Amino acid sequence: MSEIRTVGVIGAGQMGGGIAQVAAVAGFETVVFDAFEGAVGKCRALHDKLLARAVDKGKMTQSEVDNARKRLSYASSLDALRNADIVIEAVVEDPQVKKDLFKQVLGLVSGHAILASNTSSISITELATAVGDAAPRFIGMHFFNPVPVMQLVEVINGLATGPDTTERTIALARAMGKTPLPANDRPGFVSNRVLMPMINEAFYAWMEGVAEPEDIDGIMKLGCNFPMGPLRLADFIGLDTCVHIMEVLAEGLNNPRYRACPLLKQLVTAGRLGDKTGRGVYEYPAK
Ligand code: CAA
Ligand code: NAD
Repeated sequence: MSEIRTVGVIGAGQMGGGIAQVAAVAGFETVVFDAFEGAVGKCRALHDKLLARAVDKGKMTQSEVDNARKRLSYASSLDALRNADIVIEAVVEDPQVKKDLFKQVLGLVSGHAILASNTSSISITELATAVGDAAPRFIGMHFFNPVPVMQLVEVINGLATGPDTTERTIALARAMGKTPLPANDRPGFVSNRVLMPMINEAFYAWMEGVAEPEDIDGIMKLGCNFPMGPLRLADFIGLDTCVHIMEVLAEGLNNPRYRACPLLKQLVTAGRLGDKTGRGVYEYPAK
């Protein structure tokens, strides 16, 4: 079983940035790549802020942060992932974009490198078709938002995933301080099969005038002890991601009850994607 020393991350958004931070802090050489101008700079600035806060709160020493920083690099070319022992993809929840990227990655990395997707819902077996004979090295490694805080990594084997790949991925998740749990390769796996229809239903409740957003969220927070109400959580996840996940559920489970709520889709059409654009269900003026 070859050792993982270098972690490559594709996508410097909220998930990719979090995965890269946790990997570097855990002692792995880490390279995070994003194709879009500005994304890498924003990611670096967020790392600066979160790592400084960790020192202020006494959770890390300054020298631990300095060492993590030395292990962390940012790239605007995919080529920088050449030496990665695992590539973790965290770009938009679109199968074609992900497959195109994995085809390119396959031509770059060594024959032992694991190819992992942080997809929320898309079939791992389907994504693995992009890498042909390398499918035994392909796996789902599903982190949760915010990555530095959330304990879980859902580990999803595709039909062709090899036991060595699963073992190494589980070991990596543990080395990153996470708890890996298995789920089968079905639409939404476990987490989003259960969570996303609940979020979608909250949009229907709002659309149908059952209550205003603040009250829907307040009722679910105070009544069910959720840290965030479902509409606030949707903004936090990204409304675009929520729509993509519902589309995967509706198509994969072939059941209209999983269709994305029209109001949720309308907000996405208007560019109101949640925290990341400063406005979704709620407004976030600071962003
Ligand atoms: N990135 C990194 N760290 C963050 C963060 C972020 N975006 N937001 C909050 N934190 C950290 C804070 O720094 C703080 O850490 P310290 O204690 O070390 O300072 C800690 O989280 C608690 O933060 P706050 O005190 O500011 O706020 P809080 O107590 O309200 O907690 C929360 C914030 C952790 C986000 C909490 O509201 C929560 O757990 N919300 C639910 C999150 C959730 O359900 N995530 C799963 C989403 S579904 C998913 O990820 C899967 C998918 O495929 C869509
Ligand atoms: P995001 O919009 O915050 O970030 C996506 C990043 O990918 C952006 O920085 C974008 O510039 C970059 N990107 C897009 N296309 C690219 C390409 N072709 N090459 C390189 N970079 C590219 O999205 P996110 O919330 O981080 O979600 C990323 C993935 O993680 C999705 O598959 C999503 O379903 C999954 N996920 C999201 C959450 C969540 O709560 N947001 C939780 C778990 C999993």
